Amino acid sequence: MLETFETRVELGERSYSVHTGGGLLERASKLLAEAGLTGRCAIITDSNVAPLYAERVVAALGGAPDVIEVPAGEASKSFATAEIVCRRLAQAGLDRKSFVIALGGGVVGDLAGFVASIFLRGIPYAQIPTTIVSQVDSAVGGKTGVNLPEGKNLVGAFHQPRVVLCDVDTLGTLPDREFNEGFAEVIKHAIIRDAAMFEELGAFTRNQENLSPVIARNVEIKAAIVSEDEKEERDIRALLNFGHTLGHAIENAAGYGTLLHGEAIALGIVAASRLSIKHAGLSRDEYERIVARLRAFSLPCSLPSSIETGQILDAMKADKKFEKGQMRFVLTASIGSAFVSNLVTRDDVIEALAALRGDPLA
Ligand SMILES: NC(=O)c1ccc[n+]([C@@H]2O[C@H](COP(=O)([O-])OP(=O)(O)OC[C@H]3O[C@@H](n4cnc5c(N)ncnc54)[C@H](O)[C@@H]3O)[C@@H](O)[C@H]2O)c1
Ligand SMILES: [Zn+2]
Repeated sequence: MLETFETRVELGERSYSVHTGGGLLERASKLLAEAGLTGRCAIITDSNVAPLYAERVVAALGGAPDVIEVPAGEASKSFATAEIVCRRLAQAGLDRKSFVIALGGGVVGDLAGFVASIFLRGIPYAQIPTTIVSQVDSAVGGKTGVNLPEGKNLVGAFHQPRVVLCDVDTLGTLPDREFNEGFAEVIKHAIIRDAAMFEELGAFTRNQENLSPVIARNVEIKAAIVSEDEKEERDIRALLNFGHTLGHAIENAAGYGTLLHGEAIALGIVAASRLSIKHAGLSRDEYERIVARLRAFSLPCSLPSSIETGQILDAMKADKKFEKGQMRFVLTASIGSAFVSNLVTRDDVIEALAALRGDPLA
């Protein structure tokens, strides 16, 4: 049996545990009960994850929970789907002592967490994330929400889960492309906070034994950052936006379904690293090592010609990361640390995007 890790997210009376390891779905009943989740519950999941894992969770919980399945994909992170799910919870007779389980990737986690934050003015929930992105990032930290046609994540609430179960066995069914995109966030964590992990990632290969320690390490990083700055009021949680200011804009400009989030973030990381050479003194050597790490996970490091610079700049304007018209950019002076800078200008961004079109090592 694989080793199991337990990480605490320290938030006073809202503190909770994140368990990482194998065989956790089977142990769900005990782990949820330890977190005080013993009442009636409903599992919210998606159309890809339901056939793979819902039965196992239902069985672990004694066959009782209702399973609410939404279509897989970002489109389910909507008010319309949240309403459907809330109505299903009401029809199932969930009350204030009941709880919800989010079983799936970040889409399900954000949607189910949002539903839990508003149903009966807030009921508890557990996260059982089943993608790399959701295990190392979205399931921890309590940011929940849905998208609007005007933009992603524009509606939501901070609502911390009572417990998170990162069962690495579930990652076995992730397609390679989804597996690799999750490592864009892992590489991000390494760059902003953990030079040793950055080194270790150089030797990473995909197998179950290697997963628990790396997921647990990333959970620790996310948990520490969330504990220090839960609501992004200081410039700590904002560091998680490394590679995201441009990455989001590239993702939006590319259009839905062209680039996966992590792939767009990989491009954003290359651009932010280049800007870090100019404004933070990042060495050329470290920049090249960042590109090499991304490439080792088959992540893109050059911008496809179909995505125009003008579209990316327009998308940046719409991004809520602009504060009072100023561009706030997360930069790194050396791998393992990051800071928020106001030095990056629009011309710098245009220059970095131009550089991103060619060979990143030119
Ligand atoms: N709340 C936060 O702090 C936070 C942080 C990062 C990302 N997010 C959000 O997370 C979402 C992205 O999450 P994601 O990348 O997990 O996407 P996702 O939930 O869409 O999952 C990706 C795909 O993999 C499928 N899938 C999930 N688990 C699987 C498994 N074990 N085996 C096979 N297929 C599986 C899903 O059905 C989906 O098709 C975005 O909406 C993003 O905004 C939120
Ligand atoms: Zn991200």
